[in-house]
Formats: sequence, structure tokens, C-alpha cells
Amino acid sequence: MPLEVANLTELAEQYAQRHPSEILALAFEMYSPSVGISFSGAEDVVLVDLAAKLGGKFRVFSLDTGRLHAETYRFLDQVREKYQIPVEVFFPRPEAVENLVKEKGLFSFYKDGHKECCGVRKVEPLRRALSTLSAWVTGQRHDQSPSTRATVPVVQADPTFSTPDNALVKFNPLANWSSKQVWDYIRENDVPYNSLHERGYVSIGCEPCTKAVLPGQHEREGRWWWEESTKKECGLHSGNKLA
Ligand code: ADX
Ligand code: SF4
Repeated sequence: MPLEVANLTELAEQYAQRHPSEILALAFEMYSPSVGISFSGAEDVVLVDLAAKLGGKFRVFSLDTGRLHAETYRFLDQVREKYQIPVEVFFPRPEAVENLVKEKGLFSFYKDGHKECCGVRKVEPLRRALSTLSAWVTGQRHDQSPSTRATVPVVQADPTFSTPDNALVKFNPLANWSSKQVWDYIRENDVPYNSLHERGYVSIGCEPCTKAVLPGQHEREGRWWWEESTKKECGLHSGNKLA
């Protein structure tokens, strides 16, 4: 049953310190089977593991921009096999990609910024994925980006992707977990992970827009490194307030 924004704010406060598994359980209780985990093929695999352990009906989807690393494609399939779940893959509209590439080439984002390419390759497919759901679950965390994610609540209304017919709700069960907590969970529970993590990659997105980071560098420095930190949201989470 969809809740009013005020109730969601209250719920977010109530669940702020709860374990991610309890937040997922709440999402499933409220919206199953119309709830989807948005899985990027990185350390947000923790959500898939927690969800599989909870059982119940949920979907897992991934946005294949056409520019992911080979390792990420392999990992998506590894997850599908280990958990015996269909990972629904959403692709961009061919005509939109063709037009962009014809007009600006394959690396326009280095000159024009990443917004246009992300719009075509990520945001439009996400909009399509979300049109079939009442709620979605992301792996966003406060520590991923102090300038854009520091205040992300564990549950919120999603005005960016809601439509007049669909008041979409967004759950961020890992919001209060640190990277260390995520990785402790992965190790302690034998959760499979993207092999890029063994080569210095921390935050993983598309291949041309992601690089490994050096010890002590913030993970976000490996994403769209030619842009300012406050611009490093690709549109999936553009509703986040700047801190
Ligand atoms: S991004 O917006 O900068 O690309 P980030 O890589 O930090 O996001 O991931 C945060 C969360 O956004 C992920 O845990 C996941 O829920 C969602 N997400 C990001 N990229 C994808 C993708 N390609 N497919 C599905 N979900 C994604
Ligand atoms: Fe395009 Fe880079 Fe955005 Fe991927 S991250 S959709 S390659 S701009």
C-alpha cells in the first residue's frame, strides 16, 4: 500500500539504525512482488545476498549501458547462477544510442560531461524498468559520496521517477553502512564479488568512466574523474540533495 511522503519520512527515522536486512524485509512486506533491486554489478551484491536469504518475491534488474567492463558482465551471470534468480537486464534504446554516437562519437562524455550519455544509456532504461515497479532498492551509501549522498535516508519517496499513476518509493538499505561493513559482510558470508575489486577498483560503473583508485583516494575519485565531485551523479540518483 503506497504511503504518504510524511509517513515515509517517519519510517526512515524509525529504520535509520536498523540492519539492512530489516530494511529489505520492510520493503518486501510493503511492496512484494512489485519491488526491484537495482543491481550495478559491484559491491551492492550484498543486497542480493540479503534478499535471497530473506526469501519472498522480489526482482533484480541491471542497466546494461553497453559500456560495462567484461568482468561486470561475467559477474552479473555469476550472481544469476549462484542465487538462481533472473537478473533482468535493461538496454538503452538502439536509435538513441545510434544518434548520439553518429553525432558525437563514442567518447563525447570526456568533452561534454557525462549527463547526455548517461541519459541515453542509463536514465531512460531505468525509467522503463521502474515503470513496472512500485518500489526500488538501491545500494547507495552515505560514505560513497560526501557531497551528494551524505543525507540519503533508508527509505524515501522518489519524485524523480514517479509518474501521476505510480508514486514510486526508493529504499536504500545500505545508506548507513560503511564500505568496511559491506566488505566485512562479503567476506564473512562468502558472497561473490566483481573481480575488478581485486585490481584497485572500488566504485564500479561504465568502463570508460571508471578507474582504479590509489590507497587513500576516495572511491568516487575513480568515477568521472574529469568532473567536479558535486556533478558526479548520473541521473539515477539526481534527486539527492547536495550536502
Ligand atoms: S551511479 O549513479 O554513480 O552510477 P553507483 O555506481 O554509485 O551509482 O551505484 C549506486 C547504486 O545505483 C547501486 O547500488 C545500484 O542500486 C544503482 N545502480 C548504479 N548503476 C547501476 C546499473 N548499471 N544497473 C542497476 N543499478 C545501478
Ligand atoms: Fe556513458 Fe560514462 Fe554514463 Fe556510462 S557512465 S552511460 S559510458 S557517460
